[in-house]
Amino acid sequence: MSAEDQKRIAGEAAAALVENGMIVGLGTGSTAAWFVKAVAARGLDIQGVPTSEATAELARSLGIPLLTLDEARRIDLTVDGADEIGPGLSLIKGGGAALLREKLVWEASKRCVVIADAAKVVKTLGAFPLPIEVVAFGHAKTQARICDALAECDLGIAPRLRMKDGEPVRTDGGNLIYDAACGAIPEPSMLADALKAVTGVVDHGLFLDLADEAIIGTDAGAVTKAP
Ligand code: A5P
Repeated sequence: MSAEDQKRIAGEAAAALVENGMIVGLGTGSTAAWFVKAVAARGLDIQGVPTSEATAELARSLGIPLLTLDEARRIDLTVDGADEIGPGLSLIKGGGAALLREKLVWEASKRCVVIADAAKVVKTLGAFPLPIEVVAFGHAKTQARICDALAECDLGIAPRLRMKDGEPVRTDGGNLIYDAACGAIPEPSMLADALKAVTGVVDHGLFLDLADEAIIGTDAGAVTKAP
């Protein structure tokens, strides 16, 4: 079975968790897109809170009414993809450059479910380069201080500015992304704290203690994992 089929299986299984009247956080990426399509197909009376402009466009095209994060009185359930799922449902996210809006929506949600294909489950986080969102002003100086923060965590690497078509990638909020190819992150919470302490860093793709549940698409169907 292809990874895309596994993503679809996970997205469809998560869509079964949605009930009439819910306000639902809508994640970003190819796996979350399967969830959004499967929810729309159920024709429920729900409202969505999108985590990116791309997801907002998809949801609108499928007829899902949308709220901004500030308009939502509550968020009952958020379903989103991930780049890596490690021990305790620690995650790396942000491969699609939406990590800041995703984290804001996740943190406002009563329940967060991460969905992914089986290859995303890892023993140690870090093979996927960690996305770090920074403000554009003075970003090269910020990059140097990110290097110091990484070195404090015994990660002697320099993060690379994410580029596309010869231009720096801009997030929906107009920020830039640096990707840190850590290889392995033995202490994710230490790294998370060190990165957050750098002026100019808006946020990073480590999602720790946020996921309540994972639904993994496997060749044998959808498998649920607790932290
Ligand atoms: C978006 O910024 C990301 O956090 C995505 O959720 C993540 O990159 C997973 O994407 P796929 O579902 O496309 O693999």
